[in-house]
Amino acid sequence: MSPLPFLTHLEPDLFKGRDIYAVFGNPIGHSQSPQIHEQFARRSNQDLTYLRIQPEPDQFFTMLSAFFQMGGKGANITVPFKLEAYTQCQQLTPRAKLAGAVNTIWQESGQLVGDNTDGVGLVRDLRSQGIELKNKRILIVGAGGASRGIIGPIAQELPSSLIITNRTVGKAEELVVAFKELTNSIAVDIRAWSLSQLEQENLLPFDLVMNASAAGLDRQSPFSELAAKSVFRPKCFAYDLLYGKTTPFMQQALERSCRVSDGLGMLVEQAAEAFVLWRKLNIELLDTRIILASLRQV
Ligand code: ATR
Repeated sequence: MSPLPFLTHLEPDLFKGRDIYAVFGNPIGHSQSPQIHEQFARRSNQDLTYLRIQPEPDQFFTMLSAFFQMGGKGANITVPFKLEAYTQCQQLTPRAKLAGAVNTIWQESGQLVGDNTDGVGLVRDLRSQGIELKNKRILIVGAGGASRGIIGPIAQELPSSLIITNRTVGKAEELVVAFKELTNSIAVDIRAWSLSQLEQENLLPFDLVMNASAAGLDRQSPFSELAAKSVFRPKCFAYDLLYGKTTPFMQQALERSCRVSDGLGMLVEQAAEAFVLWRKLNIELLDTRIILASLRQV
């Protein structure tokens, strides 16, 4: 897909008489957020405009501030600005605090409020696919911002055990420490494992394995063939947070007859959560699964 138009600077005229929303990222030309939000707006009879904005890496907060000063109503934030957004918002929702990253912003009494809808979006997408998390044994791969955003909401679904694995095991250990207070309070067993620990034979089976690493962007799987053989048993569900292609991680799971999913449903569901927060609507109005199906046909 060729890149679609995006803005690199803002004109005040753009905002006159319109409810403007936007996604900020760099690069942003491939973002599907405008199509998704336009479909939400159509289904819920909302009159709004949703733009792509691509600030230079050092211009993110300058552009974000200008956007809200000119009358922008709400912003989604994507790579690489989620952590900066977190540090710049004057108010944070509990789930943004837990994630340490912000993907959704609006303004209240002149202050920027930051939220994180990624985790709830993932949980909703899994549920829509018939995947329950309670009492399940779950493996999350990766220890960057994507993992951080989902660990809290996943833990709150009360899995029997949550294992975080990462190429650099120290980062997985740091995440476990960061979430210990939450997981202790809800009696969820959370641990950090090295990737090589997955290579052992007789590994207890996982119900759900989620790839939140960036390996797929390099057309790689985080798992060696030995680890894939131990992890991907027939009843395991494999979910890659990336979307658009069958990633090598998904391929390894498919070869072992596991059910797989990419992260397009999560993209739609996290967007829906942002949309209903901004527009104060009931999420049922948005028919997210129909929108997801239409995106899959493009
Ligand atoms: P994001 O914010 O999208 O999560 P990130 O913070 O750069 O991005 O984190 C990327 C994650 O993918 C990291 O956990 C990284 O592992 P390291 O901590 O060892 O760097 C993981 N990752 C990236 N490429 C990988 C690869 N080829 N195999 C395994 N893990 C990979």
